[in-house]
Amino acid sequence: MVELVPLEKKYLDIVTKWNYDSEINFYFSKRPPLSDEQQNLWLEKTLSDAAKKKYIIIHQLNQKPVGMVSLMKIELTSAKAEFGITIGEKKYWGTGVAMAASNMLLHYAFQILKLEEVYLTVFEANVRAIQFFSNLGFVKTGRTFTNENDASLIEMNLFNTHFLNSSHPH
Ligand SMILES: CC(C)(COP(=O)(O)OP(=O)(O)OC[C@H]1O[C@@H](n2cnc3c(N)ncnc32)[C@H](O)[C@@H]1OP(=O)(O)O)[C@@H](O)C(=O)NCCC(=O)NCCS
Repeated sequence: MVELVPLEKKYLDIVTKWNYDSEINFYFSKRPPLSDEQQNLWLEKTLSDAAKKKYIIIHQLNQKPVGMVSLMKIELTSAKAEFGITIGEKKYWGTGVAMAASNMLLHYAFQILKLEEVYLTVFEANVRAIQFFSNLGFVKTGRTFTNENDASLIEMNLFNTHFLNSSHPH
């Protein structure tokens, strides 16, 4: 259903378009970079960071980029990383592309990188994303945070053994 290709400069415009969609960035904890220069700097920094792996999700039917899925803060010593996903083309919400792309990256994280734990933080109000992450097998850890605007975020995590042994449809 989808292919994952590493983020590169040719995708910067489309990633920027997604980042500026208020329905998409509503739940981002960081504001997206503003100017072209800031966007280019963000890309350079992201691509040179060995602890980050960001992939563009390509829909196999039409070869269109529809979103981005990421592992961040990859720590091989503690075998952990942070997970993130955005389906920037909203007409693909609810079509299974987010699930397919997440399962591909989680298989990579657990089977190739041999991580033990993948975690994420999500706004408590982002009920769609929380349901989506639960469907993938993530569970709430009980840790909560508030950001500078006093909005609540929750942490969820998923362990290698749970993901690889679960009956979730991957
Ligand atoms: C989060 C995201 C990747 C999920 O992808 P998606 O294609 O929309 O997800 P799915 O449709 O497969 O799953 C969403 C689930 O939430 C449910 N849902 C949708 N709206 C809901 C709502 N308002 N309240 C409760 N559940 C809701 C759906 O029914 C579905 O669950 P089900 O399959 O058990 O019925 C996508 O919506 C997105 O990119 N959102 C914007 C960016 C974002 O929030 N990223 C996460 C930040 S941590």
